[in-house]
Amino acid sequence: MEAATEFVVESPDVVYSPETIEAQYEYRTTSVSREGGVLKVHPTSTRFTFRTARQVPRLGVMLVGWGGNNGSTLTAAVLANRLRLSWPTRTGRKVGGRVGLGRREGYPPGWDISSLNLAEAMRRAQVLDWGLQEQLWPHMEAMRPRPSVYIPEFIAANQSARADNVIPGTRAQQLEQIRRDIRDFRFSAGLDKVIVLWTANTERFCEVIPGLNDTAENLLRTIQLGLEVSPSTLFAVASILEGCAFLNGSPQNTLVPGALELAWQRRVFVGGDDFKSGQTKVKSVLVDFLIGSGLKTMSIVSYNHLGNNDGQNLSAPPQFRSKEVSKSSVVDDMVHSNPVLYSPGEQPDHCVVIKYVPYVGDSKRALDEYTSELMLGGTNTLVLHNTCEDSLLAAPIMLDLALLTELCQRVSFCTDVDPDPQSFHPVLSLLGFLFKAPLAPPGSPVVNALFRQRSCIENILRACVGLPPQNHMLLEHKMERPGLKRVGPLATTSPVLCKKGSAPTAPNGCTGDANGHSQAEAPQMPTT
Ligand SMILES: NC(=O)c1ccc[n+]([C@@H]2O[C@H](COP(=O)([O-])OP(=O)(O)OC[C@H]3O[C@@H](n4cnc5c(N)ncnc54)[C@H](O)[C@@H]3O)[C@@H](O)[C@H]2O)c1
Repeated sequence: MEAATEFVVESPDVVYSPETIEAQYEYRTTSVSREGGVLKVHPTSTRFTFRTARQVPRLGVMLVGWGGNNGSTLTAAVLANRLRLSWPTRTGRKVGGRVGLGRREGYPPGWDISSLNLAEAMRRAQVLDWGLQEQLWPHMEAMRPRPSVYIPEFIAANQSARADNVIPGTRAQQLEQIRRDIRDFRFSAGLDKVIVLWTANTERFCEVIPGLNDTAENLLRTIQLGLEVSPSTLFAVASILEGCAFLNGSPQNTLVPGALELAWQRRVFVGGDDFKSGQTKVKSVLVDFLIGSGLKTMSIVSYNHLGNNDGQNLSAPPQFRSKEVSKSSVVDDMVHSNPVLYSPGEQPDHCVVIKYVPYVGDSKRALDEYTSELMLGGTNTLVLHNTCEDSLLAAPIMLDLALLTELCQRVSFCTDVDPDPQSFHPVLSLLGFLFKAPLAPPGSPVVNALFRQRSCIENILRACVGLPPQNHMLLEHKMERPGLKRVGPLATTSPVLCKKGSAPTAPNGCTGDANGHSQAEAPQMPTT
C-alpha cells in the first residue's frame, strides 16, 4: 500500500476552505495556588480558534556566513536533493535525500566576508565526499556571497585573512545595504517571503548598556551614530525592518533587548540562539533522563575538539566564552524542576572545554562525563564519545528552522475572551527544540528538555487541526473490558496476547485507533 501524503481531520470542530484550516480547540491546563500549607490545583480551560493559511508561499532563505561549512553544506544538500544526485563511496552509492524546500525555494543565497564562490567554499569545508563535490561544482561555481559587515573585534583575530568581501561605509550605510540586499533578492527571485539565518562566526558577547542597545529607539540611534553594534545585530535589525524573520544560529547575544523590542513593535519573528545539533542535544535528553529517574546529577564535564574554521574561531577566549555560556545553561530547567533532589540554588558542576585540532576538520569529537549520586552513597558515571561531521548535523536543523518559522507565520488564533486574531509572540519560543539556548518571551519559562520541546511543537500543530494533545495514556489498552468507542478501520484482533514486536504495522504508520502510536491494535484479552 502506498504511504499517505495527506491527512484530513473529520470533525465538526475543523473547517477546511481553499484558503484556510480553521479549528476549534479546548486548551486545558491548571493553575495552582497556595492556601496556608495546601497547594490548590484548579483545572482551567480556554477555547481557542486556530486559523492556518493553506497557501504555501514562495520562501527564500538568506544565510549570513553562506560560504562557511554550514552554509556551503546546506546549499550542497539542497542541490543534491533537487538534482537527484548519487555518488560512489567506499560503502556503495549514496543519494542526496531528505533535504528539500519543495517548491518554495531558491538555493539559499546570502552574505559572507569571504569572497570564495560556493564551490570553492564547499572544497574548503572538506565535509562532502569527493564524488559529490565534483558533481556539484558546476552548479555552485557561479554562486558568490554578497559582501558583508566585518567588524574585526567581534570575531577572532585568526579570521582576518578571510575578510576580503566587506561592505564599506558607516554602520547606517551598512544597514541600508543589507536591507537593499534583502529586497533585491526578494524581488529578483519573485519571493513572497524571506527568512534571514545567521550561520556566520560566533561573535563575542555585546555588553547590554542602557542608552546604547536596551531599547529599539536607542539601538537605531546607536546605528545612526556609528556606536558599538555587532554585525549580527545589524543583520537582525535589517531583517526586522524588512519584515523578515531573523534566526540566530550562533551563541552570541545578537538579539539584545533593543532588537527584541524592535521585533515586538514590527511583529516580526525572531528566534535563537545557537543550533542545538550534537553534544548539547544529547545533554538535553540525558540529564532529563537522569534527573527524571531520581539520579542526582552532580558533575557534567564536556570536552570537544574540532578542526574546522568554527573551531579556529572558538580558540579565541571571547568567542569561546559565548559558546561556553550557551552550552552551559542547557540543564537549568531540569535541575530547577526537581526541588526534591536539588535544594534552592544547588547546581551540578558543569564544565565545557573546546580545543582546536586542525587535523580532525569538521569531524568533531565530543566527550562527556556525567556523574550522578545514587542512594546510600553510590555514584553513577556515564561516559560518551561522539564523532560526527558537525555541519551535517547543523544543515538539516537550519532547514527545519526555516520551514517551521514559515509555517508559524501562517498561523493566527483568537480565544473566547480575546476574539481579535493574533499571532505567536515575536520571540518564537516554539523553535527552542532547535536551539541550544532558546529565547523565550519575557517572563516565560525556558524549556531545554528535548522531548518536552518536541511535544510542544507536535501538540501545537495538532491543535491547529483541532486534535487533542498527544497523551501517551493508551487507556484503551489498559482496560479489563474494552469500552472505548472506535472509529475507522482496525487491524484484525486476536484473542491471544501480542508478543513484543509482533503487532502489525500499517505502511503509513497511521491507521487504526492510533492515538499517535503507530501500532495501535484493539486491546487484547489475557489468556489463562
Ligand atoms: N555546525 C554545527 O553543528 C553548529 C552547531 C551550533 C552552532 N554552530 C555555529 O554556526 C556558526 C557557523 O558554523 P560553521 O561551522 O559554518 O562555521 P564557519 O567558520 O565554517 O562559517 C562561518 C562563515 O561566516 C563567515 N563570516 C564571519 N563573519 C561574518 C559576517 N560578519 N558576515 C558574513 N559572514 C561572516 C566566515 O567567513 C565563514 O565563511 C558558528 O558560529 C558555529 O558556532 C554550528
